[in-house]
Amino acid sequence: MIARRIATVLALLAVLVTASVAVMHTPAIAQTDGKVPGETLGTSSDADFWRQIRQGTQGQVSIPNNQSGVLIQSEGDNWRSVRNGPVSTYGAWALLGAVIAVAAFFAIRGRIRIHGGPSGVTIERFKAVERFAHWLMAGSFVILGLTGLNILYGRYVLKPVIGPDAFGALTLFGKYAHNYLAFAFMIGLVLAFVLWVAHNLPHKSDLVWLAKGGGMIGSAHPPARKFNAGQKILFWLVMLGGLSISMSGISLMFPFELPLFAKTFAVLNLVGFDLPTSLTAMQEMQLGQLWHTIMAVFLIAVIIAHIYIGSLGMEGAFDAMGTGQVDVNWAREHHSLWAEEVEEGEAARRHSAAE
Ligand code: HEM
Repeated sequence: MIARRIATVLALLAVLVTASVAVMHTPAIAQTDGKVPGETLGTSSDADFWRQIRQGTQGQVSIPNNQSGVLIQSEGDNWRSVRNGPVSTYGAWALLGAVIAVAAFFAIRGRIRIHGGPSGVTIERFKAVERFAHWLMAGSFVILGLTGLNILYGRYVLKPVIGPDAFGALTLFGKYAHNYLAFAFMIGLVLAFVLWVAHNLPHKSDLVWLAKGGGMIGSAHPPARKFNAGQKILFWLVMLGGLSISMSGISLMFPFELPLFAKTFAVLNLVGFDLPTSLTAMQEMQLGQLWHTIMAVFLIAVIIAHIYIGSLGMEGAFDAMGTGQVDVNWAREHHSLWAEEVEEGEAARRHSAAE
């Protein structure tokens, strides 16, 4: 009796295994015009039908959530492999590269000193409103950067160290901070733009400054106005990069409501590009996420260099954003044209007050 049952189960298993192997080895049947050649299986395969099953299209379902029309979303696999592949890998290299570049610069050049030494006399460089704008933008950017990097790399870097529970709680808190502080960053960005744009327009002295490498190598200090050419480049990178990250961030914050890419591609196509202008709602989100990440990692790498030069890298620089006052010798060395203007202005004011 038992032997017969075992024999039956074994026979069934054998049939199952044979059937699975046969199915696995059945050659794929190519279809033409939506038909399986020779109608071997007596059925037809409609390419459009299966494309809709795989991708879904807007308006396929009668309920308000169009996304429920997407049954299989093939592009998700591509997006995930790009995000977790090249974007994460090159992003990590870019950040590591920025840290190594800064460390190498410090090792070779050391701290940039005030050659004449601090004079003890200071002049005003940034008013309170300018410092407020800078620190609103900078403080929120640093937290946005750290919480964003946690979303990208935290599971590999932080989770093994602090454990899944603490990582889960921290990431949830970080996600809220990321969403809300985005608005503080945008306000800071707009304020800084309004306050500083006039000082960041190109000027002929910028060419001299660039030609002399900004005086970074050696001890020559090319003349500069309030912002030198390097700072102007930083300003525009922050403004344009910040705008781009903000726009893609808002688009991610309100899923499927504010697609940007098909419209942007249509404009780029007018100037000779050949980019797809028909994107599914899901593809829009995927491109938005990739773009947001790439731009953010790029700007973080740039800001690593800025933070270094604005603090440890240059004697007397931090005071400009700390107290708003800089030593007059620092001003004459790094921003000679601006220092002249300020000193002349003050002399004129003293003169007219004495009269
Ligand atoms: C968190 C550490 C940071 C420090 C210590 C720092 C320091 C400074 C200092 C000292 C200046 C004035 C330079 C001068 O007087 O010529 C400055 C200017 C500026 N900072 Fe920052 N900063 C920081 C973060 C940021 C961040 C995160 C951003 C943007 C996202 C930013 C954007 C700017 C811009 C656009 C300027 C004006 C142009 C320039 O001077 O390069 N800063 N920063």
